[in-house]
Amino acid sequence: MSNTVVMGAQWGDEGKGKIVDLLTREADLIVRFQGGNNAGHTLVVGDTKCILHLIPSGILHEEKQCFIGNGVVLDPEVFCQEIDDFLAHGRVIGPEHLVVSKKAHVIMPYHKLLDAAREAIKSGKDKIGTTGRGIGPCYEDKAARIGVRAGDLTNKELVRTKIIKALQEKNVLFEKLYGLPPLDPEEVLEQIWPFAQRTAAYLGDVSAAIQDGVKAGKSVLFEGAQGTHLDIDHGTYPFVTSSNTVASNAAAGSGCSCAMLDRIVAVVKAYTTRVGSGPFPVELDDVTGTFLQNNGSEYGATTGRPRRCGWLDVVILRESVRLNGPTGIALTKLDVLDGLEELKICTAYIYRDQQVLYPPQEENSLAEVTPVYEILPGWKENISVCRTWEDLPEAAKTYVLRIEALLGVPVSLVSVGPDRDQTIMRS
Ligand code: GDP
Ligand code: IMO
Ligand code: MG
Repeated sequence: MSNTVVMGAQWGDEGKGKIVDLLTREADLIVRFQGGNNAGHTLVVGDTKCILHLIPSGILHEEKQCFIGNGVVLDPEVFCQEIDDFLAHGRVIGPEHLVVSKKAHVIMPYHKLLDAAREAIKSGKDKIGTTGRGIGPCYEDKAARIGVRAGDLTNKELVRTKIIKALQEKNVLFEKLYGLPPLDPEEVLEQIWPFAQRTAAYLGDVSAAIQDGVKAGKSVLFEGAQGTHLDIDHGTYPFVTSSNTVASNAAAGSGCSCAMLDRIVAVVKAYTTRVGSGPFPVELDDVTGTFLQNNGSEYGATTGRPRRCGWLDVVILRESVRLNGPTGIALTKLDVLDGLEELKICTAYIYRDQQVLYPPQEENSLAEVTPVYEILPGWKENISVCRTWEDLPEAAKTYVLRIEALLGVPVSLVSVGPDRDQTIMRS
């Protein structure tokens, strides 16, 4: 039995949801280990499309057990909404299917308010373009050691005390800095309490459950959110999210040993996209950029914002390989490139008159680089109908093999459409 981490190698939205859903067939336990409902993971099964923000993408497989680990930030209202959405489609998700770590931090109404107020006060180029879900402020309270944890949700008095303490500081910010009315602790408590009580029914010891499961011969799939270049430490800071998105956080964010992480699957989109602000060297503001956006339906699964599009950037992917140590690559959305005359791959940057193979580390240095491109031939065929490696046109095979050679990691899976069966397994 092997345990697998699935993580994004670019700026998110690589197609992790589809890959997790596919690989769930081989797993027993599926765990989210960081991020929150800033994520939007899309699963397509036949005519049905489902977008999950918080519940792990393994949930569509009814016999599997899903977990929300300690590294996740959880909005109880969103959690209940997702469960209700499943209920509306006739699926009951109970605590036997889904367990929430008592150590996961809770996104409170004042986190969402702060997220929005901070973005509103920033001038254009300084805006991070967050999803507005309160992710950053919630992780801040975790680090400041004043957060509400999911395990607290069984104790109304404790939550009340924590809200009062948190608002002592935050109300000063709301009133004096952001020109907003202060929040009343009792109102905040009453607002969240119905959702808190429902969430409390799902609480458990995720760390113990995973470790007991592994001892009993079960295998675990760790579902990453966001992407490596949105990582709080290793991403394009400050235009990043507030958690560690790299594979190694699968262990810390779920409460298990790194030695348990056997396989690391890096999900790589066949071109590059980014939502929100921040430097993006390969961005295309031309007809090809529009082609990728339209053909790839590149609109955010969480906020609906159009995603910025560009060619494949191997410089940031090399860094992702270094940071995550993937054992294989799942290459997604190759079909979106159908019909392009030629394809460009950015293999290096020019930075301050030097050619570099890895992203420079100075803040915002990616805004200064010029991409160096290699040009490959495109293909005219509709590859979304291909089901084996042999079915692919030669030019598509050449593109995949070139990525493999540049990164030194096998492309073990090629995705040619959103559906489960639009997948070519290579190993
Ligand atoms: P995630 O956040 O990494 O799970 O990715 P998203 O769900 O935000 O965005 C990926 C989008 O691409 C979704 O709409 C998927 O249904 C879709 N998708 C995934 N794989 C493929 C593929 O191989 N081809 C095409 N055309 N669409 C895909
Ligand atoms: P999935 O899991 C793409 C981006 C936001 C913004 C930055 C910070 O679907 O790949 P935050 O709300 O996290 O404080 O926003 O991070 N971002 C994502 N971009 N995919 C995601 O998740 C993202 N989650 C956050 O657009 O630029
Ligand atoms: Mg997404």
